[in-house]
Amino acid sequence: MLPAKIKFALIGCGYWGANFLRILAGSPLVTLVSVCDTDAGRREAMQALYPHVTFTGDIADVTGDTEIHAAVICTPVETHLPLTGQLLRSGKHVLCEKPLTSTAQECLYLYDLAQQMRRCLMVGHVFEYNSVINYMQHMIAADQIGPLRYLQFTRMGLGPVRRDVSVVFDLAAHDVAIALSIAGTMPLSVMATGQSFQPSGLEDVAFIQLIFPRGVIASINVSWLDPIKQRLVKVVGRDKMLLFDDLSLGEKLKIVEMGQNYQDAKGDFGSFQLSVKDGQIIIPNLQYPESLLTELEHFAECIRTGAVPRTDGRYAYRVVRVLEAAQESIRHDGKKIWIT
Ligand SMILES: NC(=O)c1ccc[n+]([C@@H]2O[C@H](COP(=O)([O-])OP(=O)(O)OC[C@H]3O[C@@H](n4cnc5c(N)ncnc54)[C@H](O)[C@@H]3O)[C@@H](O)[C@H]2O)c1
Repeated sequence: MLPAKIKFALIGCGYWGANFLRILAGSPLVTLVSVCDTDAGRREAMQALYPHVTFTGDIADVTGDTEIHAAVICTPVETHLPLTGQLLRSGKHVLCEKPLTSTAQECLYLYDLAQQMRRCLMVGHVFEYNSVINYMQHMIAADQIGPLRYLQFTRMGLGPVRRDVSVVFDLAAHDVAIALSIAGTMPLSVMATGQSFQPSGLEDVAFIQLIFPRGVIASINVSWLDPIKQRLVKVVGRDKMLLFDDLSLGEKLKIVEMGQNYQDAKGDFGSFQLSVKDGQIIIPNLQYPESLLTELEHFAECIRTGAVPRTDGRYAYRVVRVLEAAQESIRHDGKKIWIT
């Protein structure tokens, strides 16, 4: 029987973990019992901000504590498989950051393990809990933009450069997840090119193309090398285009109508330019609750009710399957990889 507030541990309190620390420490749904991080300096810095939380460098303090019901894992990707395995085997429900692991096979292994242990395994594909993406999903499901034509993603900026995975497994994990969710299916094939400009050989820029059934195509451009930060998701349907700019403060979503006349065949060059777009642009008045908080609330709800999380191990598997195919295509100079 769970108490009124589910008892949580946080594993990893680095750059992104600091956000989970803030949310877990302030949530009325959960009690943050313990934070585990192997870096003593990081523990000290965070302990100063959260003096009432217990910090440890030893995961056994979490796995061995029967009072703890659930853990959030926010460590580098290469540690996700062993940590998620240990925590599930010790009987904890687990919310692991994306991507769940670096191979699709390992995702399935963890999915099966969670089933065996009868524990909830959720993966932090945060855009599935983003109010703008949810609004876009709703419009598409309600056939408000017409049949899908193509998707375009731009996720670029200067780092932070990862040491354990390429930009494909880091930034493109978000866009692949959004693309699969909007297309509502796996792609038929993947093609990608990428380059590494660092000694590790891990790509820091990649251009990925997905081909979905019914001719829908997606282009995903990700980079850690771009001096201008951009976070854009464009969904083009027959009747409308949805443009999500995650860096905009108050106008994150623009709904652009296609307009009636693309061009005046008899007009001069000036009239051609003027007639390219004559549809309305609508900016819906949306609320932007913090997606990470919505994600945590969904996890707590799934633990309590036994519901399957929207971003469970199988969702994570599908994303990693596509990321693997993109890496394989990059290794083979952009070869088309069929998703079977
Ligand atoms: N959802 C998002 O938008 C988003 C954004 C950034 C990062 N992330 C994900 O969050 C995860 C962490 O990324 P980050 O940027 O915070 O990395 P980071 O390197 O800043 O922090 C990782 C922390 O984990 C600690 N750590 C490493 N191994 C550990 C272990 N075995 N046990 C306990 N602690 C350990 C490190 O000491 C460090 O403090 C990654 O999976 C990344 O993909 C998600």
